Amino acid sequence: MKFFIDTANFEEIKEAHAWGIVSGVTTNPSLVAKENISFHDRLREITALVEGSVSAEVIALDVEGMIKEGRELAEIAPNITVKLPMTPDGLAACSVFSKEGIKTNITLIFSANQALLAARAGATYVSPFVGRLDDIGHNGMDLVSTIAQIFEIHNIDTEIIAASIRHPQHVTDAALQGAHIGTMPINVMKQMFKHPLTDKGIDAFLADWNSRKSAE
Ligand code: E4P
Repeated sequence: MKFFIDTANFEEIKEAHAWGIVSGVTTNPSLVAKENISFHDRLREITALVEGSVSAEVIALDVEGMIKEGRELAEIAPNITVKLPMTPDGLAACSVFSKEGIKTNITLIFSANQALLAARAGATYVSPFVGRLDDIGHNGMDLVSTIAQIFEIHNIDTEIIAASIRHPQHVTDAALQGAHIGTMPINVMKQMFKHPLTDKGIDAFLADWNSRKSAE
């Protein structure tokens, strides 16, 4: 499973990119709104740094508006992925972009049937929202597992982005259930690095090193 970072904050993207683990970036209108920046300018910055897919979401809800906005976004850089909502108009736009060779990410997926519809409309990626399903008492990870099984049975090459990831256990489970990608905030990535035995081991190695009788 690959890692995408879920943010529009450039400092966070730079920090995680330097760790060598970031294969792409996802943004959404709520994340962009936090930044108080020109969306297109920020996308130019991100795509200049990150080689992989950078998802940029349209705001329009009608198919013509989505196609216009999506084409403008796709012109910013070749690695822009147009993010579209899981609606009939969103899928109509997805189908147009698919024929034009523009990558798409269908967002706000909450059922296996929605994922199957999106795949058949030519989506490059589908984004099931794990945490938001957990929030309403469902098991979000079951959805990732079901979609992965369906895509496997039917040889569908649309990639699954496990989204709305809230903690490291979500990451492990998404990888086990067959998500191709997990997109997550930087704080989840930072939590993944941590293990008390790693810290304890480093402290012990350093203490032993510093207590040696110096031969230098
Ligand atoms: C990713 O594409 C989504 O925008 C994101 O993961 C949503 O996460 P949230 O449910 O924590 O807002």
